[in-house]
Amino acid sequence: MKFTLNGKMVDANKASGDTPLLYVLRNDMQLNGPKYGCGLGQCGACAVLIDGKVARSCSVPLSVVQGKEVTTLEGLSPTATQQAQAGVAQEPQFKDMQDTSFAVKAPATAAPIKLHPVQQAFIDTQAAQCGYCVNGMIMSLTALFDKRPNASNDEIKKQLAHHLCRCGTHLEILDAAYRARTLIAQGHSVKAAAATVQAACEQPTCAKEQA
Ligand code: FES
Ligand code: FES
Repeated sequence: MKFTLNGKMVDANKASGDTPLLYVLRNDMQLNGPKYGCGLGQCGACAVLIDGKVARSCSVPLSVVQGKEVTTLEGLSPTATQQAQAGVAQEPQFKDMQDTSFAVKAPATAAPIKLHPVQQAFIDTQAAQCGYCVNGMIMSLTALFDKRPNASNDEIKKQLAHHLCRCGTHLEILDAAYRARTLIAQGHSVKAAAATVQAACEQPTCAKEQA
């Protein structure tokens, strides 16, 4: 069963066609962004994008995504390693933060990793409590803003209406959504970084890294 996963063709040949996509993503592809919540298509924790549309991966059989493009939380922005390889941003090196005097020093050259604006907004607003629901919130908002970058408050609330947050951080999550809309309006985009990374990842060293 072949499909495109976060921009890369994969073959989920170990799983049968009726296996929930969520199980394949988490167990076979080691992508733990999508979460198992209810397993019944009701909470939204497992959301992914399929051909750009938000879907609940616990309720989507693997056979449905054959030949399609699946994007998970991990695919919204290039990884820190990919960004560093592409020269988009530099990841702070852990070794640079180790100091025998226990003084933590960030390297002078460190630049922030470029995240998708919706991811960045959740960090800016500290919207997560336990964070379990956040994957679904981010994926759903990403699908909305891809089509409606200037979505109204009502459209945002409607988009999130069937996503459950057991911690009750709904107001903070709405703040994050409004912040994401502002970031997008200000031109914060991960697409330029992603394009640079994609070019860099055609290099043999990066392909080896991803294998
Ligand atoms: S785990 Fe898929 S909707 Fe709840
Ligand atoms: S479920 Fe804990 S932050 Fe939403």
